[in-house]
Amino acid sequence: MRAFGSVVQVLGLLYLIGGGNSAPAKKGPKGFLKQLNDTTWVLGNDLWNLTQGRQYGVRLMYKDKDLVGNAVGHYVSYNGAASDLNWTSAAIVESGSDYINVKFTAKEGDFHWVIYDDLVGAYQYFINHALPVLGEFRTLWRLDNTSFPRGRTNVKDGVLPPLSDYLAATNVQDETWQEADGTYLTKYDWAAFIREQEYYGVYGNEFGSWYINAGKDYYNGDHLKQELMIHRESKTGDAVQLNMIHGTHYQAVSKDAFDDGKTWGPWLWYLNDGSKSDAADRWRQEQKAWPYKWFKDTAYQTRGSVRGKIVLSDGRPAAGAAIFLGDNDMPNVTALDQGKRYYYTVYADNDGSFDIDDVRTGTYALQTWANGGKIADVTTTFVQGDIVVAKDKRTDLGKKLTWTVTDRKDRVFQVGNFDRKTVGFKLSGPTPFEHGRIDKVPANFTYTVGKSKSSDWYFAQSALGAQSIVFPLKAGPSSNAKLTVSLAGFSGGSSANILLNGQKVGNITTNSALLPTSQDTYRAATQAGEWHLLEFPIDQSLLKQGDNRIDFNVTTSTRWRGWLWDSILLDWA
Ligand SMILES: *[C@@H]1O[C@H](CO)[C@@H](O)[C@H](O)[C@H]1NC(C)=O
Ligand SMILES: *[C@@H]1O[C@H](CO)[C@@H](O)[C@H](O)[C@H]1NC(C)=O
Ligand SMILES: *[C@@H]1O[C@H](CO)[C@@H](O)[C@H](O)[C@H]1NC(C)=O
Ligand SMILES: *[C@@H]1O[C@H](CO)[C@@H](O)[C@H](O)[C@H]1NC(C)=O
Ligand SMILES: *[C@@H]1O[C@H](CO)[C@@H](O)[C@H](O)[C@H]1NC(C)=O
Ligand SMILES: *[C@@H]1O[C@H](CO)[C@@H](O)[C@H](O)[C@H]1NC(C)=O
Ligand SMILES: *[C@@H]1O[C@H](CO)[C@@H](O)[C@H](O)[C@H]1NC(C)=O
Ligand SMILES: *[C@@H]1O[C@H](CO)[C@@H](O)[C@H](O)[C@H]1NC(C)=O
Repeated sequence: MRAFGSVVQVLGLLYLIGGGNSAPAKKGPKGFLKQLNDTTWVLGNDLWNLTQGRQYGVRLMYKDKDLVGNAVGHYVSYNGAASDLNWTSAAIVESGSDYINVKFTAKEGDFHWVIYDDLVGAYQYFINHALPVLGEFRTLWRLDNTSFPRGRTNVKDGVLPPLSDYLAATNVQDETWQEADGTYLTKYDWAAFIREQEYYGVYGNEFGSWYINAGKDYYNGDHLKQELMIHRESKTGDAVQLNMIHGTHYQAVSKDAFDDGKTWGPWLWYLNDGSKSDAADRWRQEQKAWPYKWFKDTAYQTRGSVRGKIVLSDGRPAAGAAIFLGDNDMPNVTALDQGKRYYYTVYADNDGSFDIDDVRTGTYALQTWANGGKIADVTTTFVQGDIVVAKDKRTDLGKKLTWTVTDRKDRVFQVGNFDRKTVGFKLSGPTPFEHGRIDKVPANFTYTVGKSKSSDWYFAQSALGAQSIVFPLKAGPSSNAKLTVSLAGFSGGSSANILLNGQKVGNITTNSALLPTSQDTYRAATQAGEWHLLEFPIDQSLLKQGDNRIDFNVTTSTRWRGWLWDSILLDWA
């Protein structure tokens, strides 16, 4: 690329002077970039164009309509609104017969728009040069709310509540209001599991604006990474479409320092007439085309693949296990908290085998954990480091990656499936986000091992009171035991003592180093947040023949803050 720098510059200049598409005699792309003054540019093609200022893309013309209108428009920002990037220059840095690649430069890095002649929208990507250590980094559109009244993710589709509803309601916490009829309005209801997205965005009868992130390796976190996707801006009424390329909304500790060159994208920002089926077709097309052959970036194009087959130490295949390929230099950091490089997520087949394609070359560590199903009893995480992925090679880890698990004969009881999610418990669904659902969990209830089902246990706990498990022992204990409490999430503000037959054996405590808060129940999550595994030794003298009882006795409670259950189990030690 460097060798062609001067040619590219000249080309860019020609377009600046010639005005691109206004010269019909000339062959070449219809995309254009025009500079109006030091801080204003117009870019686009015959079909659409955007007027871009120093921070905001303020006027988006399509079918003779300005789709930004009174809204803020397009921008790139980190750690909240105080840090919207400022573009100091723009140039066409590359072009072909039917496309141009426009680069906007900021001191933190470069934002690119790749504009094809026939495309309403653009591929976008960002190359880091000097971003600070950050948790939140995003690109977004804040659009005209009459053109885009509705929003769609893979789990929620509907009219964005109008600003008038917000104005008439009472603010009850950050970005959350209660209406006169008791229902809640919150942007967090529009969150989703980001790696499960196909196409998402805002739309109406005439227009749709979608993000189609075919590749997802530049996101932080794992399969359970959740983010805010779209919402109504509660101060201005803008229709907001977020592209949270690094985020922390449902995580506790996820600040990262990025290497110069870390690249997010390319993803497609796609504008259409509001048709969801057209956006879905486009998603399928993008998914087939990813990784994009047209992207002239050597590191991006240099990929290999990894395959393997995992068996548990008791001989069972690791059926359906969650498989994560991440950082090799910190294999003990949970998958959700990794975020400075590139990450790959798949699930194993029923026989424990897995394939991960299109992995950037490098050295990775593999982490796997149970995702319910046939191995829902497995509480350990399997970690294997030093996995080298080389260009155009398939790294075969073989058929016998052995995952050490606890002997199932030692299990006294287990409530819920081990999958780092609340799935299967009462009120965990149907939708994964709903502010205040935790209020519906009764303060006191008892689960009886042998009689109750997983679906009798509630997904969360917050209220003052006790959730209890009664379990029988046929004979008195002959060894000590271990109580494992797996939390799918923890939103600090509530705490509990864990009692066995009335004696304190453990705790779930706010502000303890073991339990950093991930704001999940607080931000309407009902299925997952940040997973925590708590283990408490149990002295055999506390156990007895006949019925025994474990109480999770809430000692302090803050409304909407508490924990999400994954699984609770007792093993002989
Ligand atoms: C640059 O042009 C834009 C659009 O015409 C205008 O709004 C803005 O005031 C101009 N800025 C300067 C510094 O001239
Ligand atoms: C942008 O699009 C509008 C509406 O289609 C058109 O009038 C305008 O000339 C375009 N701007 C440029 C710079 O081509
Ligand atoms: C962009 O410039 C504005 C001042 O116009 C400043 O407030 C803001 O912090 C700058 N953004 C960044 C990321 O430095
Ligand atoms: C759209 O935004 C305007 C402000 O620009 C606001 O007055 C109006 O209530 C918003 N409409 C909806 C449906 O929220
Ligand atoms: C971290 O991971 C390494 C490699 O898997 C392992 O050997 C080590 O015991 C782990 N350390 C901790 C503190 O868990
Ligand atoms: C829960 O149980 C405790 C202890 O028995 C009792 O004091 C409390 O009133 C109960 N709470 C509710 C809401 O029933
Ligand atoms: C809570 O349990 C942990 C072990 O998980 C223990 O280290 C800590 O001291 C306990 N804290 C309280 C307040 O009981
Ligand atoms: C459980 O907590 C309640 C307060 O919520 C308290 O009144 C009760 O004594 C506790 N039970 C035990 C056994 O500690």
